[in-house]
Amino acid sequence: MIRLTPLDEAALTRLLEAAEAGADPLEVMPPVDGPPGWTPERRAAFVAFHRSRSVDPATGVERTWVIDDDGVAIGAARLAPRGDAVEAGIWLARAARGRGIGTQVAALLVAEARASGAARFIASTTAGNGAAQALLSGAGAALTTEGDEVAAVLPLRP
Ligand SMILES: CC(C)(COP(=O)(O)OP(=O)(O)OC[C@H]1O[C@@H](n2cnc3c(N)ncnc32)[C@H](O)[C@@H]1OP(=O)(O)O)[C@@H](O)C(=O)NCCC(=O)NCCS
Repeated sequence: MIRLTPLDEAALTRLLEAAEAGADPLEVMPPVDGPPGWTPERRAAFVAFHRSRSVDPATGVERTWVIDDDGVAIGAARLAPRGDAVEAGIWLARAARGRGIGTQVAALLVAEARASGAARFIASTTAGNGAAQALLSGAGAALTTEGDEVAAVLPLRP
């Protein structure tokens, strides 16, 4: 059963373990200099990134959830206000991809976005990310491509 658990310190520890075990740092956080993989610097940056953007109410700019599959962390989902819209992001650990879980998470995020009163659900991805594009258009979003950037927009109000 797929559930979204609001990110707190305990969930952040579980999320870091899921990221280290099953995702590349570049898929789940901004770039940090150094050799590839989960260096101590990248682990620290991952935790600092989520603390400042989400866990710490003094600095938070988005809502983040751990994606739990039967209580096991397998990825993260987020919604960040952008004017009257909310911008969504999702990543799953490699072993969890391609099984329909992203589709379920997108539906949960759209419901959260609607409940928050946002006018539009938006997301961006790259021209090469077929899974993200299929996920977003499957959720009902209209996609527009400009160079390597793909923007998705789903109106939430009539
Ligand atoms: C993008 C991501 C969240 C999608 O979640 P997922 O669980 O793998 O996707 P699903 O299994 O629900 O499939 C969603 C759609 O993508 C399609 N799809 C899945 N993998 C695909 C692939 N590698 N290439 C093209 N399409 C793919 C599925 O067929 C499905 O389309 P359909 O509904 O038309 O059948 C996940 O692959 C991921 O975490 N990727 C790495 C991080 C990332 O790229 N995040 C998005 C950044 S915007």
